[in-house]
Amino acid sequence: MMLPFKYLAIIRFISENKDMTEKEAKQKIEKLRRDLEYHNHRYYVLDDPEVSDAQYDRMLKELETLENQFPDLKNETSPTQRMGGKPLEKFEKYTHRHPMLSLANAFSEEEFFEFDARIKRFLKTESDIEYVCEFKMDGLAIEIIYEDGKFFKAATRGDGVTGEDVSQNIKTVRAIPLELQGSIPKRLEVRGEVFMNKASFENLNKMRQKNEESLFANPRNAAAGSIRQLDSKITAERRLDFFSYGMGGMGEIEGEKPKSQWETLELLKKLGMKVNTGTKKCKTPKEVITFYQKALEKRESLPYEIDGVVIKVNDFKLQDRLGTVAKSPRWAVAFKFPALEETTVIESIHVQVGRTGALTPVAHLKPVNVGGVTVSRATLHNQDEIDKKDIRIGDTVFIRRAGDVIPEVVKVVTSKRTGHEKKFKIPKLCPICKSDVVQEEDEAISRCVGIDCPAQLKEGIIHFVSKNAMDMEGLGRKIVEQLVNEKLISKMSDIYDLTQEKIMGMERQAEKSAQNLIAAIAQSKKVSLERFVYALGIRHVGESTAKSLVEAFGSLENISKVSLEDLENVSDIGNTVAKSIFSFFHDEKNKKEIQRLLSKGIHFLKPKQKSGKLSGKTFVLTGTLPTYSRSEAKKMIEDHGGKVSAAVSAKTDYVLAGQEAGSKLKKAKELGIPILSEVEFLKMV
Ligand code: IVH
Repeated sequence: MMLPFKYLAIIRFISENKDMTEKEAKQKIEKLRRDLEYHNHRYYVLDDPEVSDAQYDRMLKELETLENQFPDLKNETSPTQRMGGKPLEKFEKYTHRHPMLSLANAFSEEEFFEFDARIKRFLKTESDIEYVCEFKMDGLAIEIIYEDGKFFKAATRGDGVTGEDVSQNIKTVRAIPLELQGSIPKRLEVRGEVFMNKASFENLNKMRQKNEESLFANPRNAAAGSIRQLDSKITAERRLDFFSYGMGGMGEIEGEKPKSQWETLELLKKLGMKVNTGTKKCKTPKEVITFYQKALEKRESLPYEIDGVVIKVNDFKLQDRLGTVAKSPRWAVAFKFPALEETTVIESIHVQVGRTGALTPVAHLKPVNVGGVTVSRATLHNQDEIDKKDIRIGDTVFIRRAGDVIPEVVKVVTSKRTGHEKKFKIPKLCPICKSDVVQEEDEAISRCVGIDCPAQLKEGIIHFVSKNAMDMEGLGRKIVEQLVNEKLISKMSDIYDLTQEKIMGMERQAEKSAQNLIAAIAQSKKVSLERFVYALGIRHVGESTAKSLVEAFGSLENISKVSLEDLENVSDIGNTVAKSIFSFFHDEKNKKEIQRLLSKGIHFLKPKQKSGKLSGKTFVLTGTLPTYSRSEAKKMIEDHGGKVSAAVSAKTDYVLAGQEAGSKLKKAKELGIPILSEVEFLKMV
């Protein structure tokens, strides 16, 4: 029998180690522990790994095997402890030596200015105070105690005085060192926030949905739920993260003690703790406001959730003078962001029909303010989502709004159920044209099969005329609906038969706007091929696929005639997309419609001359430019024959960097790629 390589390697390893003396094993174990902690720090704290995950796992496995072979050499701060231990019966209580305080909140600029004024009044000064501004991590506060540089215990905040000993669980968090580096204090109480990043949260909920387990409403609940696990093996799977932002007592720090919050963060970093790099020292209240606003802008794009910023007086002498009121220090405030999540009630569920006939159930909600925006609708995606989350009409639900995307129902608050809630099923007939609704196999989406469904027609035409497609300015949703309702158009090409008189014949259409519309329609006949292909509304063909098609096949005639196989050979086109394109161009009705469109005078602009000043050059954009938006800069580069790529690689010629440029800029520096400011770039073109 042939054994796989993996097993052979383990057997070889065991037999090689069989005759090891305890002394040899000790040396090897110590080296492995040191190396593993070193790589752990590089990976989880510095975000700059030196070895692959597989290498790390092999070393960890090797250490585990050795520790099992020599149980006397086991130790509480060995990296093998990160894999979780025996489940606990219950958590022991832990009383903090120094109480863990909470923070007072400020919900507006005025409230922050009041905080600043209060501090100045208290300190009897009119000079500006130096603040340290940090992100307010949306997780849970933890204290980790190190004795003689080794992880000793970790506890939750609890009521601030007594929390729970969650050491086993905290040890599974890779961003938390089990041994400190540098000049080690006798005892150290590190304070910080354990949290789950957005990607881990999404994955966790996806898994839970698949396993029909209840979902977590947000990353904070997921992190708290994971820390409250009695079985630390489960916590180990949850991929928690950690940022430290302070210390408990400082009495036992050797040498010079930090004199400010800033120095504390510096010291924590030196000891090997993970500290957020977004932290900033601010010398005036105005700088604090700018920090807040920038953090609010960055909020969506950060890999973890923050719910505000924390402003702390930097100087410890001033902190001491300010002291504490009730359970919060006078020297710090949590300057909160508007919440992204609220609960409300689903009043009804309606179905919308899209351009491809897809039926989307939409929850109509009791209006609620979410982060400054009134939300009255949330997408329910499809029937599967409704069933999995068991969403019913009348339910109280958590809704979340993130950026510009349509608000979503995260989960149902089942404890609020009265028994009067009603289940919802997508209708078997299209609510608009009464055609059959089908749900294709292995597709979650239900579709109306009606070829003349007015809803599909309207959405298809709205897409056809939209800005990034044929760009007919002035032809918005309202007018398209009016045109379809009054039967002036029943397919895309009918738009080109419209006349000023016909438009003016409709309600609320004046001469001037009709004239403008006709002009915009005429203007649209001159179009690039890729826009036209995108405008056709072929299922699965967005702007970038349309562009790839044109690049690969050159003309509409070629695109409409290529084989399925040739389509699949285009780099970003897979089987489903290829099939969709192929069947679109082989459908008799579509062929006729395309011919009709062309007969109306649509003609394609020659592809942009690639011989501009930037011809052959690849750019990567990062950060916010002072005057141009990203899409404007992209267009400018492309207009001059250059290409814009998403990621920095050896093939990148220039990186155009604005403010708040992040990892792309770092990578460009590492690769020695020229970095341009907006001004330098403008000079080039
Ligand atoms: S300092 C006395 N800094 O916010 C200072 N807290 O309501 C106590 N938090 O319980 C905390 N990020 O869970 C501080 N950068 C940060 C923080 C932070 C999140 C949490 C922490 C605390 C709560 C205060």
